[in-house]
Amino acid sequence: MTCTDNCCRCGALFEHDVPSFLIGTASEIMIRKHAVCEKCQPIVDRERQEREDQEAMEAERGKRLEDTKRRLEDSGLFRYELGFDPDHPEANRKLMSWMLLHCDHSVWIHGRTGIGKTRVIQAAARTAVKDRSVRYWPVYDLAARLTETSKRPEAQLFDLYDAELLILDDLGIANMTAAKLTALTAIVDRRYIGWDQVRRLQHADTATFNLYSMTRRRGLGGQIWITSQVPPDELVKDLATINSNDAAALVRRLADMCIVHEAEAVR
Ligand SMILES: Nc1ncnc2c1ncn2[C@@H]1O[C@H](COP(=O)(O)OP(=O)(O)OP(=O)(O)O)[C@@H](O)[C@H]1O
Ligand SMILES: [Mg+2]
Ligand SMILES: [Zn+2]
Repeated sequence: MTCTDNCCRCGALFEHDVPSFLIGTASEIMIRKHAVCEKCQPIVDRERQEREDQEAMEAERGKRLEDTKRRLEDSGLFRYELGFDPDHPEANRKLMSWMLLHCDHSVWIHGRTGIGKTRVIQAAARTAVKDRSVRYWPVYDLAARLTETSKRPEAQLFDLYDAELLILDDLGIANMTAAKLTALTAIVDRRYIGWDQVRRLQHADTATFNLYSMTRRRGLGGQIWITSQVPPDELVKDLATINSNDAAALVRRLADMCIVHEAEAVR
């Protein structure tokens, strides 16, 4: 049935069809009250689309925030939180800029105590949790967690294999024993396998190589950030004093995976 109504948007009178079986029902009132003229229809459609897109975007943003929050909780960072204030007179901004440039790679940052390694790597890690899973471990505490008596200490450490980014802060021989070093080697070996697979792919496709996105897409968990007071070759010497055969292999693999960078003092 043809009805004449005011467009609910522009108010102009216009004619439109209402199915006759709806006449006399509540639906007729609804349809006629919300009728939209031909000129206004595309505008109303576009506005609805924009509203839906906006809602979808907000839902997506909410989900991203939630994921970030969960990953931050899982990362262990909150247990050791040290802030990085770029305006702090002794803030190592140079190291921070280097880190931001290399945050998609595996890195080994070395430099003397107090130079800002921990603060910088934690700040970069807080950014990294926005798009990948992170495990942050001061090596001293990780070593304490590696149970000497357990036959398979690596069984406690699956989350270290799986994390897309593993951070070993202050790698050194404090609290280390040959047995713990063996467990740590097992973790690094697992991640090294993933990394090596990606490296072989790199040779097939050098131009588009991106360690982080490749390992993530393939679930290989190959990225690692290390801080230490010493460079790899010096750590090998330190580790030799613990008398472990795994030591050299461990450091060789780590150094192989990483861009080694010496942090400079602020002044
Ligand atoms: N809020 C801050 N923001 C940035 N830098 C800070 C802040 N507070 C202190 N610092 C600087 O950071 C230094 C400590 O940094 P950090 O603990 O990261 O050093 P590190 O290289 O990890 O040392 P270590 O080898 O002993 O672990 C301080 O000596 C100081 O110069
Ligand atoms: Mg530190
Ligand atoms: Zn209208």
